[in-house]
Amino acid sequence: MTPKLALLGGSPVRTRPFTAWPIHGQAEERRLLRVLRSGKWGKLHGPEVAEFERRFASLHGCQHGIGVVNGTVSLRIGLLAAGIRAGEEVIIPPYTFFSTASAVIEANAVPVFADIDLDTFNLDPRAVEAAISPRTRAIIPVHFAGQPADMKALMAIAKKRGLVVIEDAAHAHGASCGQRPAGSLGHLASFSFQSSKNLTSGEGGLITTNDDALAEACRSIHNCGRIPGGVWYEHHVISGNYRLGEFQGAILNAQLGRLEKQTRTRDHNGRRLAAQLARFPGLFPQKRPADCTRHSYHLFMLRIDGQAFGAPRAAVLHALRAEGIPCSAGYGFSLPQQPMFQKKAFGPYAPKANVDYRKVHCPNSDRICREQGIWLEQNLLLGTQTDIDDLFRAFEKIWENRETLAAKRKSGKLA
Ligand SMILES: Cc1ncc(COP(=O)(O)O)c(C=O)c1O
Repeated sequence: MTPKLALLGGSPVRTRPFTAWPIHGQAEERRLLRVLRSGKWGKLHGPEVAEFERRFASLHGCQHGIGVVNGTVSLRIGLLAAGIRAGEEVIIPPYTFFSTASAVIEANAVPVFADIDLDTFNLDPRAVEAAISPRTRAIIPVHFAGQPADMKALMAIAKKRGLVVIEDAAHAHGASCGQRPAGSLGHLASFSFQSSKNLTSGEGGLITTNDDALAEACRSIHNCGRIPGGVWYEHHVISGNYRLGEFQGAILNAQLGRLEKQTRTRDHNGRRLAAQLARFPGLFPQKRPADCTRHSYHLFMLRIDGQAFGAPRAAVLHALRAEGIPCSAGYGFSLPQQPMFQKKAFGPYAPKANVDYRKVHCPNSDRICREQGIWLEQNLLLGTQTDIDDLFRAFEKIWENRETLAAKRKSGKLA
């Protein structure tokens, strides 16, 4: 007999919590205390951020790492360092966090949207080509959920058109494509260490690059426009203090010791769950291209076609939560539909933005936002095989009960 859904009074698949996030221990405590007692709390005076910059950059195939206050500022600094000027256009996906776009506007440039691929959830290179105009200067591909974007195709377009590519690698710590680490695939890359991220210090960000000139420009911009060999009160370009602090550096150094093992676990579990869920009609886990050698699974994301599955997304999410599975629909609408874009509420920035965002439509992104996207967060993949089996069993139970679930929803008995 099919077990009854927890939503309708049955026993939930999962009653224990999943792995909690963030994870910390003695390594963090030791380093934090050392910084505290040293009195060297700022990046300019202590060793922690410098050590982290070296280790993180090297792990991501780069010669340079510049630690900054968050992963929004890192994108903006990258754009400024690359010489993007007022009114120039930067192509971004519509399915990403707000910062990918706000950083462009705060660099006084104009975001232009190119749709994502319906199955990889990453920028579609054909849509990028179609979005290029004489004013285009850069592309910001997001490695969404931790799966590298199609960088081969995007770098080929960039080369042909003379564009700068800044990877938004906020989800992609430890990910790789053709064995090359995310962060080393474009001209510059931006990482975030905000609370939910796979490597975290609460807040924080970092720029990676293998380009010496870009690295020098980023270093100067994140440090009040100072230059190597210059003196304290000598400022060469418009900039600010965007330096990461030593307490965060201490935590990140400790966290970095765990990253490799955690990334391997997430990738192993994520792959397994994707293979299991793909067996159900109407469930489409993020499609993994052949050259994705490691997915960092900041999110385990899938698409549900409610009709093919037999129950709509809202009812499935409701039922999953009742079964003890934390989950969400992710972004509720594509970025161009954000009130800021609809009203062009850009403050003093981008006065030359002549795009009417009310007319911008990205059908794949819209469909995922409105009807199909499902997110499971990275910590769910950090546990044992039993945890992954529970995730699978919850979907399986819902699929087996899909007709009852759909009928209850239709009759208005479910929210
Ligand atoms: C894709 C993406 N880009 C950029 C950011 C901005 O990072 P931060 O919150 O560190 O500013 C985030 C996340 O929070 C993100 O998810």
